[in-house]
Amino acid sequence: MTEDEIRSILSKIRYPGYAKSIVDFKIVKSIEISGDEVKILLNLATKNEDVRNRVLEEIKSAFKGSGIRLILTTVQDQPTSTTVEQKHFVQSAKKRIAVLSAKGGVGKTTVAVSMAISLKRKGYKVAILDADIHGPNVPRMLGTIEEKATVGENKKLIPVFKDGIYSMSLGYVVDQETPVIWKGAMVTKAIVEMMEMTDWPELDYFIIDLPPGTGDAALTVKQNLDLDGAVIVTTPGELSIADAVRTVDFFNQVGIKISGFVENMAYFVCDNCHNKLYPFGKIEFGDLEKILGLPGLGEIPFDIEVEKSADEGTLARDGNNEYFEIVDKIVDKI
Ligand SMILES: Nc1ncnc2c1ncn2[C@@H]1O[C@H](COP(=O)(O)OP(=O)(O)OP(=O)(O)O)[C@@H](O)[C@H]1O
Ligand SMILES: [Mg+2]
Repeated sequence: MTEDEIRSILSKIRYPGYAKSIVDFKIVKSIEISGDEVKILLNLATKNEDVRNRVLEEIKSAFKGSGIRLILTTVQDQPTSTTVEQKHFVQSAKKRIAVLSAKGGVGKTTVAVSMAISLKRKGYKVAILDADIHGPNVPRMLGTIEEKATVGENKKLIPVFKDGIYSMSLGYVVDQETPVIWKGAMVTKAIVEMMEMTDWPELDYFIIDLPPGTGDAALTVKQNLDLDGAVIVTTPGELSIADAVRTVDFFNQVGIKISGFVENMAYFVCDNCHNKLYPFGKIEFGDLEKILGLPGLGEIPFDIEVEKSADEGTLARDGNNEYFEIVDKIVDKI
């Protein structure tokens, strides 16, 4: 068997829980062939034993009956940042922080925009990049949905500036009414161009709102930004937690250091009785820290006012103090 043939077999083995293969995840470091002996060096950075074992078992079974003698070894160094060509966009920011989750609708954009507002209220210079190509929601929450990107003298895009926050979104570039089908490579290109082609000012914080999932957008951000932090958003529902576990595992694998998680819609304060209610399920925050193996940064309640102002784009103006006290504490921990 040639190295290409071996690689092609390996590229059909999916990383547990994902559509992408172990080759896509840069797990296969090297393949050495001597006679009928094949040495495969793997970088299995995951801390999840089940995932590790499954990958090893699947490799073994893929070569069963092929007549080769397979030797699997793993390295536990941190090669992802060296195996992937790292670009360094948006160096004009002192800190770059991504907000992400595998699951849709858990409140990533709300948390990302709220963090930006909180930082601005603390006196920092902040920008937010909407890396959601399929459903750019940042402009809706910032109240900049009517804005269009303009090009400056240096041929770079000028970020939209409103309520003290700089932002860039595909929503400023394409007509939101026109549905566009973006394939993987186009998603990558669009995000890279928004990072590279925007005339970002000197910033204290650059926040990136990622689309749901662990696909091309997340990999692109990882490969092109020196991330200083990444925040996972989850909700108390069991499915969302299972997704958060997978997300943590994925980001460990690609070498993104997760700063911690935010539990969004953790509870709801009853208007009449002022008790905390748990309509989305209840899980102890400490338990969640153990399950995810990450520090919890804070619990955000479901707040009808926040939903309304997020939808109307007025969060920066009329977000109430109680809500922002919670967000401020989260931001302080990152
Ligand atoms: N703490 C909250 N209180 C009230 N409403 C919230 C809260 N967090 C999010 N929402 C609402 O839930 C909806 C989904 O939130 P959001 O768009 O932020 O999620 P998302 O994870 O970014 O979704 P997507 O995966 O589609 O990008 C929005 O209407 C938002 O206003
Ligand atoms: Mg979103």
